[in-house]
Amino acid sequence: MQRTVIIDALRSTNFNQPINVRGWVRSKRGNKQVNFIALNDGSTINNIQIVVDMSKFSEQQLKPVTTGSCISATGILVPSQGAGQAVEIQLTELEVYGTADPDQYPLQKKGLSFEYLRTIAHLRPRTNTFSAVFRIRHNMAMAIHTYFHQHGYFYFHTPLITASDCEGAGQMFQVTTKNLYNLKKDENGKIDYSDDFFGKQTSLTVSGQLEGELAAMALGKIYTFGPTFRAENSNTPRHLAEFWMIEPEVAFIQKDELMDLEEDFIKYCVKWALDNCMDDLKFLNQFVDKGLIERLQSVVNTEFVRLPYTEGVRILQEAIANGKKFEFPCNWGDDLASEHERYLVEEHFGKPVIMTDYPKEIKAFYMKINEDDKTVQGTDVLFPQIGEIIGGSVREESLDKLNAEIERRNIPMKDMWWYLDTRRFGAAPHAGFGLGFERLMLFVTGMSNIRDVIPFPRTPKTAEF
Ligand code: 4AD
Ligand code: MG
Repeated sequence: MQRTVIIDALRSTNFNQPINVRGWVRSKRGNKQVNFIALNDGSTINNIQIVVDMSKFSEQQLKPVTTGSCISATGILVPSQGAGQAVEIQLTELEVYGTADPDQYPLQKKGLSFEYLRTIAHLRPRTNTFSAVFRIRHNMAMAIHTYFHQHGYFYFHTPLITASDCEGAGQMFQVTTKNLYNLKKDENGKIDYSDDFFGKQTSLTVSGQLEGELAAMALGKIYTFGPTFRAENSNTPRHLAEFWMIEPEVAFIQKDELMDLEEDFIKYCVKWALDNCMDDLKFLNQFVDKGLIERLQSVVNTEFVRLPYTEGVRILQEAIANGKKFEFPCNWGDDLASEHERYLVEEHFGKPVIMTDYPKEIKAFYMKINEDDKTVQGTDVLFPQIGEIIGGSVREESLDKLNAEIERRNIPMKDMWWYLDTRRFGAAPHAGFGLGFERLMLFVTGMSNIRDVIPFPRTPKTAEF
């Protein structure tokens, strides 16, 4: 018989007709007369209840049906007699696809910690929490593609292997086929890459932005959406060594339009979750973060604050003067610590903040320099619970100014020639941003550790699975 997915079976009103469902057993309970199997196939957070009349099945037949086992159940769909579900299936035929020894199956127990579940990341998608998270992750990817497609952006694929360091932070993983056991160095201690696979030193990309800018100078509006790699040794609940980033790049827009885009885009994604993932959100709201749904609704319905960095520092210093204690000092010119960002977002304004016009020394070389020559047109979005969720900026389009900045920072020019050509041939004002996909996921799911919103996290000293 053809399989019905459980999400459809639960909505069906085809009563008293045969139906077949297949999935993994979440639990089995009962007595000598009747057994109840809760079955889940991943299509929804909700299980379907299979009712087993024990006058028709032997104990022996039901014995392999334990938590974690995989079965095919055929039966008659009926309105449920019990509370908690609309329909159930009266079992007529049972096939066991795969058993799961109760003495060994790690998801036997309820209430396992997220830390423990990370050590069994190959099985954790079978829990309610992680199946909900990964269904939402899929939905967020669909929301992102839909948003850009509907707004006339082209999905542009930028390379993962690169010879340039976009953010200039030197946090790149090298890519080489050189024999590390037999590395030759020249008289200056330098490695000769000319005989390496690409004939030069290459790394995994930290951002698709530079190539994205080239594309925007031809297609007008583009976005990238792909894996990004950073070898920053930060063991925090907000950093991954491999994360996914969405980077739109748009010709002919200025700072205000960039901020409009950031705000509109992120609200669209959050609203998508509210419109399409309510069953999963309700589960997470109940078991992971009681304020989740309310927070999502509030972000969709409020206007973000737009705050120049200098004004932000003034507010923070005023708070300090009034007795607020922070771990780190807050002086103009410093990068804000996440405690500062969270104070502004969560305590002072109580809503998302787009912070603008940062000191140029703490930002990347490509940002457009303001007339004051001290600040640049960055536009980061700071979110409650998360801190920085988006990093964006207007780009410096003047070849002279960009060259001066590259020189001042000692960025190797020869690797940048192709990027500079965009400023040489038909330069245009343009701007863009990068959204950390897993930071968005943290916000939308209410999970508190970034390792728990990506299927197989890569962090310092961890690359299991
Ligand atoms: O602020 P970042 O470094 O900006 C860029 O890479 C720009 N090239 C983007 C652009 O303008 N096209 O990173 C952008 C975002 C951050 O705001 C954060 O959400 C996320 O990427 N991010 C990380 N997420 C997880 N783990 C990490 N190690 C991350 N580093 C940055
Ligand atoms: Mg940033």
